[in-house]
Amino acid sequence: MSYNPEIPRSRYDNYGDREWTRLEKDAHGELLYQVHLDILKRYIKLTDKVLEIGAGSGRYTKDIVAMCSELTVADISSHQIEFNKSKMCELSLIDRIKAYHVIDVLDMSVFEDSSFDCVVCIGGVINYLLDKENDGIQEILRVLKSDGVLIVGAMSFIGASLYYLEGIRYEKDQFGLEATKWIFDTGIQDEEHYPVESKHYVHMMRSTELDALFAQFPVRVQERSSAGLFTQAGDAALENARNDKEFWKLIVEKEIAFTKLQGTLDCGMNIIYVVQKL
Ligand SMILES: C[S@@+](CC[C@H](N)C(=O)[O-])C[C@H]1O[C@@H](n2cnc3c(N)ncnc32)[C@H](O)[C@@H]1O
Repeated sequence: MSYNPEIPRSRYDNYGDREWTRLEKDAHGELLYQVHLDILKRYIKLTDKVLEIGAGSGRYTKDIVAMCSELTVADISSHQIEFNKSKMCELSLIDRIKAYHVIDVLDMSVFEDSSFDCVVCIGGVINYLLDKENDGIQEILRVLKSDGVLIVGAMSFIGASLYYLEGIRYEKDQFGLEATKWIFDTGIQDEEHYPVESKHYVHMMRSTELDALFAQFPVRVQERSSAGLFTQAGDAALENARNDKEFWKLIVEKEIAFTKLQGTLDCGMNIIYVVQKL
């Protein structure tokens, strides 16, 4: 199946405020948020011109804007962009955002080459690109300055298969064992091989695929991290952990530390790569 921009656009145009609440409504969301925030803080410099592509409702926009000198916000979904604007108004941050754009990461011709010191593309934009993954990275690197940093986050297939194993077994009865082998072999949930009712067609990735993708470009990988590792403990254990404040503080610290270990890279719900353009 090839990339269809209507899939992410219509999904996120009809998402209501779920994107805003996604990262705070439960313990899993908080783990994702804290791991991403830690990485953003360590790589974004106060003097940076930053592009946040696939910004969604603005959970990270509100943080990134305070970390850099200039922030441009973009997303394929006009609904998400409007939502982001209204949240930044509410938080009195709107004047600090340079511009908003409704654009596809594959065509960012509104920006000149080498416009940004840092591009943030987290939360799974890359998973929707399917056969256009290379084109997406190429376009991001075009707008990034030499030595600039790209922070990219993807849904992790192995992590998702651990967490959603029961769902995969249920879907085996719907789609058959060949489809199940396909999803385990490729991580690709598409119309042809794995026609989920939600039409949420994505390529959930492994770190080996991200390594192979970035090996094709003049970049240096600076950091690899998983995110949502303790999510594998299960919803009940995680919520109990979060209700115990001193324990939760420790778990968040350990989530940030353990997600940097090579052995955990594919086991969280997301994989994050920080790469520098050479
Ligand atoms: C799961 S949300 C993540 C939002 C935010 N970055 C976060 O991590 O919370 C994914 C966002 O990427 C946007 N998106 C998906 N495909 C895109 C594309 N090809 N170009 C630009 N934005 C895209 C969606 O509209 C949505 O707002």
